[in-house]
Amino acid sequence: MTESSPQQKPTVLDGTRHFDVRTMSFLEDAVAFLGVLRNYAEAACRNHRRYGDVIRTRLPLPSLLINHPRHVHHVLRANVLNYPKSRRYDYLRPLLGNGLFLSDGDFWARQRRLVAPEFRQKSVQRFLPVIVGNVQALFAEWERSGPHAVRDLSDDMMRFTLWVVGDAMFRSDFRAEAEEIGHTLEVCLQQATLQMMLPGILRPWMPTPGNLRAREAEQRLNAVVRKVIAHGRASGGGQIDVLSRLTVAKDEQTGAQMDDQQLLDEVKSLILAGHETTSLVLSWTFYLLSQHPEVEARLVDEVRSVLGDRLPTSEDVPRLVYTQQVLFETMRLYPPVPGVPRMALKDDVFDGITVHAGEEIALNIYATHRHPEFWERPDSFDPDRFSEARAEAIQPYSFLPFLLGRRACLGEHLAMLEGVLALAMMVGRYRFDREDRAPIATRPISTLRLARPLRARVRRR
Ligand code: HEM
Repeated sequence: MTESSPQQKPTVLDGTRHFDVRTMSFLEDAVAFLGVLRNYAEAACRNHRRYGDVIRTRLPLPSLLINHPRHVHHVLRANVLNYPKSRRYDYLRPLLGNGLFLSDGDFWARQRRLVAPEFRQKSVQRFLPVIVGNVQALFAEWERSGPHAVRDLSDDMMRFTLWVVGDAMFRSDFRAEAEEIGHTLEVCLQQATLQMMLPGILRPWMPTPGNLRAREAEQRLNAVVRKVIAHGRASGGGQIDVLSRLTVAKDEQTGAQMDDQQLLDEVKSLILAGHETTSLVLSWTFYLLSQHPEVEARLVDEVRSVLGDRLPTSEDVPRLVYTQQVLFETMRLYPPVPGVPRMALKDDVFDGITVHAGEEIALNIYATHRHPEFWERPDSFDPDRFSEARAEAIQPYSFLPFLLGRRACLGEHLAMLEGVLALAMMVGRYRFDREDRAPIATRPISTLRLARPLRARVRRR
């Protein structure tokens, strides 16, 4: 599944192939753009199935839309230096500044090297007690609210993953701030996504109600995060962790320490990247389980046989095989980051496709994950696709929820550890009776949210 896995058999990446580029007519473009405004992830999937693997559009900007693993590989790996993050990300700058998520070049590489040791597979094992402890804290809330109360599970997951980020990375108890952080981030992301889709029409400086709300939310978020940094600094005690690495680090070239603004940007980036995506995977998983009782039953069986009634340890994690498969399959259907934009620095030609310097390239991860050439019955939920026997057949670059290549997710190991532990503990002990069984649509706002809250009664098994 990862890039390092050996691939002896021929794969989709081998050889040469020719692809036709489908350029949309003005009318097709206008219709497609309306769809993009409504829901860009679903529109990408629809356009892929209607127009093919490589599509050129003019609205809102001249862009090349790619969906095929060969082309995703070309942009993220084979010719990665020609395809940095696009200028569209600038709309996230008021929120994330020049933190890890948005910085580039040598500066980005230095900042990433600085915190990377905290996120290696071995290092993240030490977060296990923090994760388990926070699941138990959520259990205590569920017990207090009782079996008849209807809870918003998506909100519970968002708070839980924020608590973990606070404890694990910043020595901060985010319980008091979780709601404020979650709410302000949502307001900012929603507005930034709108600005991103309406470039030249909705500019960040315009005093529209949405922009003003986002600006106010940014300021509140900054105030909360400054408090988190101050608290973390005060309680350091010589411990090496993410926050201390950021606060004591000296620039390799200048020897200077990070200034307060850069520190704020890095911490905000890690808070945002570190909780929202993981929480969405858990929420979508509960949603899918509510529609697939047979998968839920198998999951509960596995958890019972591996854990019984005890708390998980790090030895249990690799044994929770089906739990991991369920999470992978959820991320295939609902990748928390459904698309990523890149920009061509120079002209390029691959597979018969000509890319012009300055052109936007949209990688539609959501559509790639449902590509009918690579996934049988692409829209159905089937965690066994990721079983040992079948996973071998998964083609490289057809599954990349954490992205691949140099800008791949920093927190993949933490996210998987947290996801496996949380899901196993939660379904092992509780069942979730949804208030209604109606389907829930997607709502992409940079991340792939649920269009409405996932409400359920939480009852002991
Ligand atoms: C299931 C959970 C997660 C998923 C699906 C996910 C996915 C991704 C994706 C797709 C990107 C690339 C975004 C882009 O290029 O636009 C990314 C970047 C990033 N992720 Fe995650 N992520 C998850 C959890 C986490 C966690 C727990 C952390 C912890 C800190 C984290 C930290 C980051 C950072 C710092 C980046 C920027 C990396 C860089 O550009 O160098 N992520 N993630």
